[in-house]
Amino acid sequence: MQSGQVAYRALEGRRILLGVTGSIAAYKAAALCRLLKTAGAEVRVVMTPLAKQFITPLTMATLSKNPILVEFFDPENGAWNSHVSLGEWADCYVIAPATANTLAKMRTGVADNLLLTTYLSARCPVAVAPAMDLDMYAHPATQENLRELTARGVKIVEPGEGELASGLTGKGRMAEPEEIAASLNALFAARTDSPLRGRRFVVTAGATIEAIDPVRFISNHSTGKMGYAIAGELARRGAEVVLVSGRTSLPTPAGVERRDVLSADEMFHATVEAFADADGAVMCAAVADYTPAEVATTKIKKNDGELTLALRRTRDIAAHLGTQKGRRVLVGFALETDHEADNAEAKLTKKNFDFVVLNSLRDPGAGFGGDTNKVTFIDRRGREELPLLSKTEVAARIAGRIESLLTKN
Ligand code: CTP
Repeated sequence: MQSGQVAYRALEGRRILLGVTGSIAAYKAAALCRLLKTAGAEVRVVMTPLAKQFITPLTMATLSKNPILVEFFDPENGAWNSHVSLGEWADCYVIAPATANTLAKMRTGVADNLLLTTYLSARCPVAVAPAMDLDMYAHPATQENLRELTARGVKIVEPGEGELASGLTGKGRMAEPEEIAASLNALFAARTDSPLRGRRFVVTAGATIEAIDPVRFISNHSTGKMGYAIAGELARRGAEVVLVSGRTSLPTPAGVERRDVLSADEMFHATVEAFADADGAVMCAAVADYTPAEVATTKIKKNDGELTLALRRTRDIAAHLGTQKGRRVLVGFALETDHEADNAEAKLTKKNFDFVVLNSLRDPGAGFGGDTNKVTFIDRRGREELPLLSKTEVAARIAGRIESLLTKN
């Protein structure tokens, strides 16, 4: 292995939170911590109470040059160890070793120690290096937990085969520190060498709100999660991102410039303006196709009869950008409930998209609100159906496709 500085260049200056759980492999966490520090990363360590039985906090504190965090608060002076600020601080959270117990708790959202509450609060990429006996690793429960965590975007650094602490030989031995450091390096390297670096992208996200009167409106179920994940991912890969956002309750992703709008008309103007000097756009918003022809200035009072609302068409933002795009990249979404692929293909041509990301509301795990999505990419050459993935992972795949388009253009 080459020296740390050369081998893990992308780790320099990164803030890495290292989680250590109670496994015999905890001794390797010391070597990992050292490698990360040598590569120029800032490291903080959070341990489970049991991990202290395997490696001393003093060792980890000395190597990381930071106090070790184990408890929710310091029993001496009552100082609170905030899992939220730890999660915000980190550019990446790596749990190595990760026991079967911790993986199961991560999957179900158990929050009975600082390492786990930090996992639940972390917004950064998370990686785990499982370590356990071969039968525990092969057990369907563990395998199912790993599959589910992968679907949510957790990176698994696979254990190796070899002699285990139990004396048995098989798969379950934690990956070597060099391998873990290399996968963290790859996580950041992809982001610094991206063709998206310095490119300007517009992303639309969330639901629009069409006022009926001062009290009521027409809207839809979009939460904006997919669009926000895309904006965050493009920014992580170095793009300058303008996020034109309808109504959502999500925090603005790091490094993204957010412009809030309400109605489809407002979104049209904000998006067209931002697209003028952009290299591309991803149209993820659920834009109302119709808006009340007139907005009542006072609250509409009920009476006994039916109420008919006259609606007018809104402008199609994506189709408008499609007429102006030239060689720029334009990505659209299609949310369909029937004849999914045919409808999505029609949108590809009609709106002049480079590719369409199709979600079908018929797929379990896809659609509004959740953290997973099941999509198919459709372009002029064909279709690529992806498995059920976390929205973060879908965002990474979309960003990857945009990168190849930018390289070709
Ligand atoms: N879109 C847009 N402006 C609109 C309507 C849609 O930019 N006024 C974009 C969406 O963000 C998405 C794509 O167009 O990227 C397709 O949206 P969708 O609602 O699936 O399709 P529509 O064009 O509205 O067609 P239909 O309602 O007939 O399915």
